[in-house]
Amino acid sequence: MKLNKFFCPTTDAWWAVALSGAVTDKKPLPVVFDGHELVLFRDSAGAAVALEDRCPHRRVPLSIGRIREGHLQCAYHGWTFSGSTGSCTAIPNLDEAERVPDRYAARAYPVREASGFVHVWLGASADAAGGRLPAEVYRPAGREFMGSTVVSLAYREYLAAMLDGPQALLEFDGVRLTDFFLGDTRPDGNNLVLDRGAVWKGRWLPPAFVNDHPLILRTAVPLVGGAIHVQLLTAQELPVVTLHIAAGANRRGTTSLCWRGYLHDTRVHGAPLRWRHARMLGRAPFQVLTTINGLALAAVLVQPSQQYVQAISRETTAKLAAA
Ligand code: FES
Repeated sequence: MKLNKFFCPTTDAWWAVALSGAVTDKKPLPVVFDGHELVLFRDSAGAAVALEDRCPHRRVPLSIGRIREGHLQCAYHGWTFSGSTGSCTAIPNLDEAERVPDRYAARAYPVREASGFVHVWLGASADAAGGRLPAEVYRPAGREFMGSTVVSLAYREYLAAMLDGPQALLEFDGVRLTDFFLGDTRPDGNNLVLDRGAVWKGRWLPPAFVNDHPLILRTAVPLVGGAIHVQLLTAQELPVVTLHIAAGANRRGTTSLCWRGYLHDTRVHGAPLRWRHARMLGRAPFQVLTTINGLALAAVLVQPSQQYVQAISRETTAKLAAA
């Protein structure tokens, strides 16, 4: 079987698909992750729930409906669905003697929350749901900054660019990310990890063969699933900023993102006054770019992501062999 360059069976997994704070009992939240169109909301007990964003009656998106008493009512003919089971709980104008047929059910997905993210199991069978949640590795211990968006870059290209040129996707206040890799890509569990040198802006870039970068950007990109973990470290590998970005394929070659990150309480020697001043004012130490500059992206050489593609192909081949 010939594998597409970026082919990978990623669906059977928990995916962080939204920030917990974005899922409410007031307004349904539509999201697309890994190609699944979902609508999220909270039921009357406050639990996050997820349904396929499609009414089983006439295929209208359920996300344009409204939440009533913890259930989701379709905007078109008013059928109402339970978020936890997907079953249709009410149809307007149904006679008392009539029963809602079981087949009129929306697809409900298993949902779990952790570390400020709502996770949805996107596997074919809900019975298979299990294992660790991708955001469990993210344990904030400082002031958090967060956001969500959809970027005009295909999902696998986004992950590849996160290895080849994170400077096209992320900005750290006052920091210039260099093209100098501090070692090769290395596997770490489900991730491929790469360190690159970083310097404070306004200083001379060091020659590529001198290892005197005051900062390190460590990028961990998943082989399966969409949890990207990024750390800005001092040269002594003390954490300065931790950032967890959930990514998944949206429609037409775009990528859904939601992220949380925080500033560590690390004393950063050599940081410019500007950096310290901005931190005292509580400004975000990083930005996940919501508009990607095509020129900047095209300028990034395809290097570490070649190993990424090979690792994905090995992973995929092993999965197919085991199936
Ligand atoms: S399309 Fe949803 S109730 Fe008819």
